[in-house]
Amino acid sequence: MFPWLHLLVFHLLWPHVWSFRICAFNAQHFGEKKAANQEVLDILVKIVQRCDICLLQEVQDPKGQALSKLLQGLNRQQELFQFVVSPPLGRNSYMEKYAFIYKSDKISVRDQYKYHDNDTKKPDVFAREPYVVRFTLRYADLQDLVVIPQHTVPDKADEEIEALYDVFLNVTSHWRCNNLVFMGDFNAGCSYLSKKKRRTLRLYSDPKFHWLIGDDIDTTVRESTTCPYDRIVVYGEELANLVNSAGIYNFTKELGLTEAEALKVSDHYPVEADLKLKYSSAHTLLPSVILIVLSVLAAGGTKTLQ
Ligand SMILES: *[C@@H]1O[C@H](CO)[C@@H](O)[C@H](O)[C@H]1NC(C)=O
Ligand SMILES: *[C@@H]1O[C@H](CO)[C@@H](O)[C@H](O)[C@H]1NC(C)=O
Ligand SMILES: *[C@@H]1O[C@H](CO)[C@@H](O)[C@H](O)[C@H]1NC(C)=O
Repeated sequence: MFPWLHLLVFHLLWPHVWSFRICAFNAQHFGEKKAANQEVLDILVKIVQRCDICLLQEVQDPKGQALSKLLQGLNRQQELFQFVVSPPLGRNSYMEKYAFIYKSDKISVRDQYKYHDNDTKKPDVFAREPYVVRFTLRYADLQDLVVIPQHTVPDKADEEIEALYDVFLNVTSHWRCNNLVFMGDFNAGCSYLSKKKRRTLRLYSDPKFHWLIGDDIDTTVRESTTCPYDRIVVYGEELANLVNSAGIYNFTKELGLTEAEALKVSDHYPVEADLKLKYSSAHTLLPSVILIVLSVLAAGGTKTLQ
């Protein structure tokens, strides 16, 4: 009868805002042994499933069995999560991978590469070179998002964070994308990085980079330590303006664990940022238009029947 009424109702009911969460978690020696512990695995599932994109660090899983167990746990109800993983990274026999787990109904991987630091001004600056991933966020107004992971070596934290600026230059020359997120266990606090030292770093002094996790945030599980090791840094005004909140996920508190139980999962808390994205108008308009056409057809159909 009143197609515009349908349109209005539909527009009001259809979700316009996507509360998008991106997380970085140092899962401390995440490998087969940890994944074999069902209680720990269940907690990891609860941690990761809160995130639209979750970067896991310290993945020590040469055969990929721990990750596949975690994915099984995540996809128990519904095939939703997929992942992309870097090759093992490290200078000697000690290797770690970066793994990105993401919700595949709205997110896909567009491109990825390992930053080669062997031909740079300062060769081999990274122990674990950033494995850069470009995501496409379907239906969102912000569609293009690049994530640059980094887990620094503690006593080289300043040099490696400094070199992230070179990665920034490389990524932005490589891809035409201005929405960048740097995240991970930067070891950016306590004895590994003084505030004075940090002020000299380009990633910090350049105001186009927004450090979302402040120095007052404790990202360590142990009660005896208070350090802002894990960080999220966003580049780009558009992206920075979409940030709603950022902080740690205190799974000790949220899941009612003791310190000892939490430490079986990791000695770090995940850091996360919540973004307020809007669905692109094409996404909300198309279903509305279809509904109008259907209602007009239905109205026409009743007329011919009479
Ligand atoms: C750097 O390493 C990559 C692969 O690890 C290799 O393809 C490339 O040739 C190396 N470049 C130099 C200058 O050694
Ligand atoms: C930077 O990006 C270019 C491609 O745009 C690539 O060929 C080059 O190897 C990159 N440099 C480093 C240090 O990764
Ligand atoms: C996390 O929660 C536990 C339990 O409530 C609390 O004792 C601890 O101080 C919290 N840690 C941080 C870093 O907020």
